Amino acid sequence: MSESVIDQVAVEFRDVMARVCTPVAVITAFDDERPHGTTVSAFTSLSMGPPMILVSLDRGSDLLSIIRRTGRFGVNVLAHDQADVALRFARKGADKFDGIAWSGSSALPRLDGASGWLACTTESLVDGGDHVVALGNIVETGLTPAAPLTYHDRVFGTHSAFEVAR
Ligand SMILES: Cc1cc2nc3c(=O)[nH]c(=O)nc-3n(C[C@H](O)[C@H](O)[C@H](O)COP(=O)(O)O)c2cc1C
Repeated sequence: MSESVIDQVAVEFRDVMARVCTPVAVITAFDDERPHGTTVSAFTSLSMGPPMILVSLDRGSDLLSIIRRTGRFGVNVLAHDQADVALRFARKGADKFDGIAWSGSSALPRLDGASGWLACTTESLVDGGDHVVALGNIVETGLTPAAPLTYHDRVFGTHSAFEVAR
């Protein structure tokens, strides 16, 4: 393949993936006593028996370094009114939790107001290009009724059901 074709594939790959409507979650872990978190859209369920999920993290992610050390991570599935939380955790820094309401659960930081909670122990970390896929075993779950936060075409939104014809 020529370089221009490879460039076009890289650009169009991003554009095609932008058309995939995704959920938004903040993955959390403790760096010693300090809570840390990172916004992700690349997470999905993996297995029902045993219950497992996977999360794809950039090799340069500070959260990934913490998970490598601690072997556990939390998944906070964000609610429709948490776009500001998603943006807060999508930047670098040790102060992302400043002013954020949270509590400890299963030795992991759990965000207030998220619609879903999964506490995980790391089953394995699998290299995938410039990302690492973390496979997690679910050890605790939590639910709060709330419409989801979604990400589509680089814009936050929520889900709306089709009207059911009667
Ligand atoms: C909507 C959205 C989705 C994102 N999805 C991912 C993702 O799936 N994986 C990832 O590694 N980074 C993702 N990011 C980028 C990280 O949140 C960002 O690089 C963050 O600064 C990493 O922080 P850390 O180094 O403290 O882990 C996403 C950002 C946004 C705004």
